[in-house]
Amino acid sequence: MTDIRFPARAFGSAVLLAGVLVVACSDDGTDDPGDGAQPDPQALFRNVQEELVATCGGANGSCHVRGAQAPRWLADPDPYASARAYRGILPVTRDSSDSILLTQVQHAGPALSRYPVLYDKVAAWIQSELPKPILPATPKFSVQDGFNVVPLDTLAPNLSGARLTFLAAQANSVLTLSALRVEAPITANLTIKSPFFVMLPRSGKVVADPSSNGFEGDLTVEAGTTQELFGGKMILLRWDRAGQLKLVFNDITSTPGQGASQKCTALDVFRDKALPAMQTQVDILADDTDGGVPGPVIGKGSCIGCHGKEPAAGDPPEPAVQAMDLRAWSTAPADACAQARNRIDFADKTKSALLLNPQGKGNPNHPMKSLAESDPVLAGIDAWIQAEQR
Ligand code: HEC
Repeated sequence: MTDIRFPARAFGSAVLLAGVLVVACSDDGTDDPGDGAQPDPQALFRNVQEELVATCGGANGSCHVRGAQAPRWLADPDPYASARAYRGILPVTRDSSDSILLTQVQHAGPALSRYPVLYDKVAAWIQSELPKPILPATPKFSVQDGFNVVPLDTLAPNLSGARLTFLAAQANSVLTLSALRVEAPITANLTIKSPFFVMLPRSGKVVADPSSNGFEGDLTVEAGTTQELFGGKMILLRWDRAGQLKLVFNDITSTPGQGASQKCTALDVFRDKALPAMQTQVDILADDTDGGVPGPVIGKGSCIGCHGKEPAAGDPPEPAVQAMDLRAWSTAPADACAQARNRIDFADKTKSALLLNPQGKGNPNHPMKSLAESDPVLAGIDAWIQAEQR
């Protein structure tokens, strides 16, 4: 890399300086905080242009230069302009490892990674073109059918406890995400700007396309509250089940906040009506470990039995507890009530996850046998939901 560190621009200014100051400047430019430390993107490209065209252009340019079928990203008259303008080569995530050039696998043509030296030079060029820093993004995650939790706590200061939750359904190559929600921590407000999903197939080109896989606008989630992520729904096409996702934000910031206490307004009704209902025996289903629809009835359990279950020593909380934590139901009912309250939809109480999930109308993978709308268990929970005030 060092041999291409002296783009014409920097060299020109070095000559100028030398004339005036007589070699007061450093000899290699690496400790120069100014312009000289930045590789010139165009120079890096020109340096690989010939080899890239020879490797990816095809015989006489029949592939990526003037191909009829192959996308032309090295097109005449200027391959540099062509490559820069081609969508996905300079990824919107600003993370060079998301570039379609670097993640493409063997196709009608070869994968660039078959030529490690060229690959590194192209990677250095892409890197030099991208504005810094890279956009904030969640770590990559795999998707399970049903309920998913993605921590957001590493994305900005003081976000411990912030998370994204959603329900996922995968059919053929379509991934449908619903009930997309963002939970802010108790002590920080969270503002996110135009987030978008990036698909990272198990092998092959990364898909980073905010226009079809993203949302536009700002969303502020006040401390201690949960909000739907824009419309709460996203459909991703050409999804690879074995692939991964990440959520990228054009910006994510936090400000100190005081979690408007999530206290229940009808704690007595929660105790008298909801808790007994939640301890009533219901039929539970075999949990499908592959993330598919749960199997046959395997025994009896209760809402509290699953949502109030302590994990074995050293284990993380059970999935049911991660989705809704009622472990405090007997020791600190007000805390359990506050957790359950998060699953009330105050805009339309009949749409509350607390009522829909047990009826199989929320998450189809909820591992209990669906209850009829008139079931006393639901009546008990509903009595409290109706009493609870915003
Ligand atoms: C056999 C265990 C089990 C029982 C019984 C059970 N749940 Fe669940 N519940 C889960 C699991 C696991 C999840 C999260 C994963 C999923 O839904 O796939 C969940 C998720 C939920 C959610 C979703 C939270 C969210 O953020 O979307 C709600 C609400 C819920 N359950 C309510 C109830 C109620 C009310 C009852 C009793 C009528 C109940 N559950 C009984 C295991 C159980």
